[in-house]
Amino acid sequence: MSAIDTRVLAPDDAGLAAGGSLLRARGLVAFPTETVYGLGADATDAAAVQRVFSAKGRPADNPLIVHVPRAADLAAVARTVTPLARRLADAFWPGPLTLVVDAHPDLPRATTAGLATVAVRVPDHPVAVALLEAAGVPVAAPSANRSGRPSPTTAGHVLADLGGRIDAVVDGGACVIGVESTVVDARGGVPVVLREGAVTRADLGLSETQPAETEPDGVTPDLAASPGTRHRHYRPSCRVELADPEDVIAVARSLAEAGQRVALVSRQPAPRGALEVARFEDAAGLAALLYGALRDAEEAGVDVIVFETVPEVGVGRAVMDRLRRAAG
Ligand code: TXA
Ligand code: MG
Repeated sequence: MSAIDTRVLAPDDAGLAAGGSLLRARGLVAFPTETVYGLGADATDAAAVQRVFSAKGRPADNPLIVHVPRAADLAAVARTVTPLARRLADAFWPGPLTLVVDAHPDLPRATTAGLATVAVRVPDHPVAVALLEAAGVPVAAPSANRSGRPSPTTAGHVLADLGGRIDAVVDGGACVIGVESTVVDARGGVPVVLREGAVTRADLGLSETQPAETEPDGVTPDLAASPGTRHRHYRPSCRVELADPEDVIAVARSLAEAGQRVALVSRQPAPRGALEVARFEDAAGLAALLYGALRDAEEAGVDVIVFETVPEVGVGRAVMDRLRRAAG
């Protein structure tokens, strides 16, 4: 792939118009959302979508999320909108909830990776919505990272992974939430969570503690139904270790004393010999800085990054899911 001159667009009228034109002309345009930066392409154009897979190095069997500016646009990409999908869209859009519904037959196979379903969401970010309006087409957008890298939460992260491989990035600053949307299968009578995110199980009226196998109504969530969960994700080049709040400082200290270069992400200050890449106060705070901390630790050239764990309730479930994937 020969290098492209990647434009950095301002999130103003001129930048958004330029981004919209690029998207309509089969271009690849990264843009901010409330969760992470997405790498956008015209979801109705197989060749455009194919470029997303090439730029990211994404496995062809991992389908993309289609982004639309308004809840009313769901009907344009779905074959059927179930009452559940309608209810969830009304309750949570714009927002960090992705709905899996039966796909409109006109959508290219590249977008859905050949599945009969499509994942759709309306982002809660003024720049994203304005870009989608300017494009005038549904926009397929996976996270704007090279496949297997942490998701990007700034335009700088996007350029580090995809500079020279995409047409433009709209720089809208740092993403507020920091972890990807909750993905829910909305084809049946109850929501089935395929990927945890900032819309929590409690928000969806599901039990926080219930194991996945015993969803209400006896629905068994088929994780294979969300192909992305099968692939390796979020692996930085340094080791990732997780430690409970009461152990984390001792773990960091003993790794440092053993001669390792250690980065720490904790509520507590780093002990001597460990690099404090980030401090957080709660699970939402950790969500917002998690991916950036992984990138910072890599850049600092540490051997290991140690994360303090958070309780697995609310957004803490998504945070712990991503941390476990990073830790491998
Ligand atoms: O917050 C987000 O969701 C971000 C922003 C950019 O919107 N996007 C994002 O996209 O995280 P990506 O491609 O990194 O993750 C999409 C996830 C994958 O796990 C994929 O397998 C799943 O959604 N997915 C996509 N289409 C699906 C479908 N038809 N059925 C089940 N899962 C699907
Ligand atoms: Mg991703």
